[in-house]
Amino acid sequence: MNLPANPVSKLPDVGTTIFTVMSALAAEQNALNLSQGFPDFDGPEALLERVSAHMRNGQNQYPPMAGVSVLRQAIAAKVDDLYGLQCDPETEVTVTAGATEALFCAIAAVVHAGDEVIVLDPAYDSYDPVIRLQGGVAVHVPLNAPSYRIDWARIEAAITSRTRLLILNSPHNPTGMVMQDTDIVALSALCARHGIYLIGDEVYEHMVFDQGKHLSLCAYADLYARSFVISSFGKTYHVTGWKVGYCVAPPQLTKEFRRVHQYVTFTVNTPVQLGIADFLQQHPEHHRQLPEFYQAKRDAFCERLQGSRFHIVPSQGTYFQLLGYADVSSEHDVELARRWTCEQGIASIPISVFYQNPNECEYHALRFCFAKDDSTLSQAAEILCRL
Ligand SMILES: Cc1ncc(COP(=O)(O)O)c(C=O)c1O
Repeated sequence: MNLPANPVSKLPDVGTTIFTVMSALAAEQNALNLSQGFPDFDGPEALLERVSAHMRNGQNQYPPMAGVSVLRQAIAAKVDDLYGLQCDPETEVTVTAGATEALFCAIAAVVHAGDEVIVLDPAYDSYDPVIRLQGGVAVHVPLNAPSYRIDWARIEAAITSRTRLLILNSPHNPTGMVMQDTDIVALSALCARHGIYLIGDEVYEHMVFDQGKHLSLCAYADLYARSFVISSFGKTYHVTGWKVGYCVAPPQLTKEFRRVHQYVTFTVNTPVQLGIADFLQQHPEHHRQLPEFYQAKRDAFCERLQGSRFHIVPSQGTYFQLLGYADVSSEHDVELARRWTCEQGIASIPISVFYQNPNECEYHALRFCFAKDDSTLSQAAEILCRL
C-alpha cells in the first residue's frame, strides 16, 4: 500500500478542548457539571412542538442556501425591534450551523494570508485556530483584569497596516463583561481612523443583567457598515445541541460570507429553521424575558455563595459567573478545576485556557455556568461554601 505520510498539521498545538475534557471528567466522576456552557433544562415546549410538526409535515429536504425565508424575515424583524437596524433579509441575513460556523465563515470571508486579526484575551477558543487556518495572524490583546474592561489604547497600539479585523465578544465569555457606551465611543473613533472589519460575537445578546443594555454593533450605522454580527439560537432557546445561529452583515460582506458558507455547510436543517421562525414570531416574550430569567439564576447562585471564601463580582451578562479563589487556594486554575471535579464533585472551567499565553492570566478565577436548575445551583453552592 502506498499510503501518504501523516498529514503535516495546520494546527499542531490544538488538542481536545478544555470544555470536552472537563465535561468528560465530570461525567466520569459523577460531579455536578457547571463547566461547559449548556443548560440542564430543555428548550420551550412550544418550540419543540413546532420543530417536530414541521418534521412530520415533510419539511425535510434542503432549504435555500442562506436559510429559509420566513426565518430570515423573523431575524430581520427582531434586529429592527431591538436595535433599530432595517436590514434586508435577502441580502443581509444568513442562517448558519451555530455561531461557530458563522465565526468561521466571517473570518474566512475577510482574512487573507498574512493579515492580522485582533483578539481580546481571555477569548473564546475558536477564534485563534480559524484565523490561523486562513494563514492569518491572531494578535492577542488582554482585557484589563479583574474588571475585564477593554483597553482601547492597547488595541490602538496593536493595530498595524496588516490589521484586517477586530473580534469583539459582548456579553463576554468567560468574564461576563458587557460593553458600555464609552466602549462604543472608543470603537467608533478607532474605526474612523482604521479601515478594519469587525465581528460582533453577540451570542449572549439576551443575557444582560441589572437593567443593563446590550449594545449591538447592529445599532450603530458606522459600525454596522463594517461588521458581521453573529448570534446563536442555541443560547437563546436553551437548545445548544441544535447548533443553529445566524450572521447579519451589510450586503457586500454577506456576499463574501455566503461564498464560504455555501461550501462549509451549504445550509442548515429545514425543520429546525421553520420551527424557530414560528417560535420567534409567536413568542417574542421568550427573548425579552431572558435577562430576568437568567438574572434570577445568577442572583440565586451568588446569594448562596455569600458565606463562601470566594471573591464574587456578579456577572453583568452571559450565563457564566467567575469566582475568584485567591483566598481559597494558591493552586494553578487548571489543576484546581480538575482536583475539585474529582475530590469535591464539582466541575468548572479554568480561565487561563482562554489566554494565548496562560501566564498573562493574572486573576485566579474559575468559571461556573449558572444555566442550571435551582437544585443543581443549590447543591453547587453548598459544595463551594465548604471550601
Ligand atoms: C462567545 C461564544 N461564541 C460562540 C459560541 C458558539 O455558539 P454555537 O453553539 O451557536 O456555535 C459560544 C458557545 O459557547 C460562545 O460562548
